[in-house]
Amino acid sequence: MGPGDPSLLTLAAVEAIRQSQVVAYPVAAPGGESMAASIAADWIRDDHQRLPLVFPMVEAAVPRQEAWIAASGALQSLVQSGQRVVLLCEGDSSLYASCSYVLLAIRKNWQDCPLKVIPGINSLSAAAAAGQWPLTLQEDQLLLRPCPEDADILTRELDEAAANQRVLALLKLGKRWRWVREVLDQRNLLENALFAERVGWTDQRISPAREVAAEVRPYFSLLLIRQQWPDVLP
Ligand SMILES: C[S@@+](CC[C@H](N)C(=O)[O-])C[C@H]1O[C@@H](n2cnc3c(N)ncnc32)[C@H](O)[C@@H]1O
Repeated sequence: MGPGDPSLLTLAAVEAIRQSQVVAYPVAAPGGESMAASIAADWIRDDHQRLPLVFPMVEAAVPRQEAWIAASGALQSLVQSGQRVVLLCEGDSSLYASCSYVLLAIRKNWQDCPLKVIPGINSLSAAAAAGQWPLTLQEDQLLLRPCPEDADILTRELDEAAANQRVLALLKLGKRWRWVREVLDQRNLLENALFAERVGWTDQRISPAREVAAEVRPYFSLLLIRQQWPDVLP
């Protein structure tokens, strides 16, 4: 569904919703909100059957595995009964997405289940565009990863990135921002790093990292860090 702005849904995504009878979407708890369903709200009709699928945001393996199996079972039953179903996903459907686990579970159980994965605009591309911040140029590498859990690992990543002309994209930044800011400050990287929060939503915040105070930020925030530019530039 892209990162938030409904105009960033692809034509393929809109068409898949239009042709479906059932719209499934992830929620973190029963009755919870779905980012993906909010983004797609304009295309969900009254005659669509809505199917919230609970994917608990916990570390433990068993509840997550049970949720993936339950979700894939529910979707397979609908397909077997002849329904057309879409499973909505925030951002791109292959990047840290619940629907990827559902895909793996379905493929394990029903090899030939007729299904299609539709790519979406991911949050880092949307952030780079909103910040007019070229993501990679010439020989640049790009490392996309969840934000490290501590300053030592981040320091190591920054060292390796500097040695390899590598841009870092850190997702799941929110509660880690406080100490990440300090690490960047020590290395004079705050000006050139782009902070992006709730990209595509009305309260979107895109700014040089320097302008963002050291406090907990929302889960939907990320950081792009460039330590050097190529020699040949306009
Ligand atoms: C589970 S991952 C989902 C990634 C998503 N599938 C994508 O393609 O961008 C969630 C993380 O992606 C990033 N993210 C997703 N949407 C975002 C948005 N609209 N604005 C800022 N960050 C976002 C945040 O770092 C968040 O913690």
